[in-house]
Amino acid sequence: MTSREKISASILELKKKHNAIILAHVYQRGEIQDIADYVGDSLDLSRKAVNTKADVIVFCGVQFMAETAAMLNPDKIVLLPDLNAGCGLADMAAPDQILKVKKQNQEMAVVTYINSSAEVKAISDICCTSANAVAVVNSLSYSHVLFVPDKNLGAFVAEQTGKKIYFWDGYCYVHENIKPDKIQYLKEKYPDAEIIVHPECPADVRHLADYTGSTSQMSMYVKKSRHKEFIVGTEDNFIYRLKTDNPGKTFYPVNSICDGMNKITLEKVKLALEKMEYKVFVPEEIRKKAAIALDRMLAVV
Ligand code: 13P
Ligand code: SF4
Repeated sequence: MTSREKISASILELKKKHNAIILAHVYQRGEIQDIADYVGDSLDLSRKAVNTKADVIVFCGVQFMAETAAMLNPDKIVLLPDLNAGCGLADMAAPDQILKVKKQNQEMAVVTYINSSAEVKAISDICCTSANAVAVVNSLSYSHVLFVPDKNLGAFVAEQTGKKIYFWDGYCYVHENIKPDKIQYLKEKYPDAEIIVHPECPADVRHLADYTGSTSQMSMYVKKSRHKEFIVGTEDNFIYRLKTDNPGKTFYPVNSICDGMNKITLEKVKLALEKMEYKVFVPEEIRKKAAIALDRMLAVV
């Protein structure tokens, strides 16, 4: 048995012992995706977190994802294997700044991307993920929308819905660093490849793409496409998922890695289950308010 197989076997045993489930985002390292009970995007994982019968959820993703699972499951133990697995985008919005803007414009709905802190969700009208952002904004009757914290996803939603949207000045460095010349260079090298990108990419990158969608939407697009090659404008680990699910197809990365996602390792998952750490805790007052915005989102699609 290799050391990796040994760790994976111990994780399986510990999982049984604690009646635990492992949820992993599609940006996790391949070896984490392999041991997970479920691999998905932010929306899929929120839904799984609501429906699970497990007592313990080991969340292999970043802080806001584990926090979301904890808020939707107040009676369960939610473990994040590395407390420093953060999301740079989620750190870009603070509740006091949003409240200031909200006070100046009472007719405005605050639509908050799930990539945000529990405190920010708690002062929001509704949450969304990249998979349902367009549907969420279309479901609102407000005349104005403040979209927090990702300006690129906000611009994508404005284009898709035709609604007047005010953007927060936040962005994800993993996607902001994907430049049009990189995409053009790959397209010249692989002319038969289709370009698929995440809506967190800047507009000039999106406008070069054949398809823009959340990770689950890109997965579906690739499965259905008659094309055999794809340039993938998002976090590189997503390609592990695409390759596993589409063995006959070829994928070209843009060389962009999320530091927070990559902090989770097999060793840390094993330790998390052995020591039951690190437990994710959200104060009840914040949890209750944030859960309203999350439940409203889950009711839309
Ligand atoms: P998805 O919900 O599309 O998986 O995106 C989450 C994310 O963090 C993108 O950077
Ligand atoms: Fe956050 Fe960007 Fe990492 Fe997604 S890829 S978790 S938005 S830093």
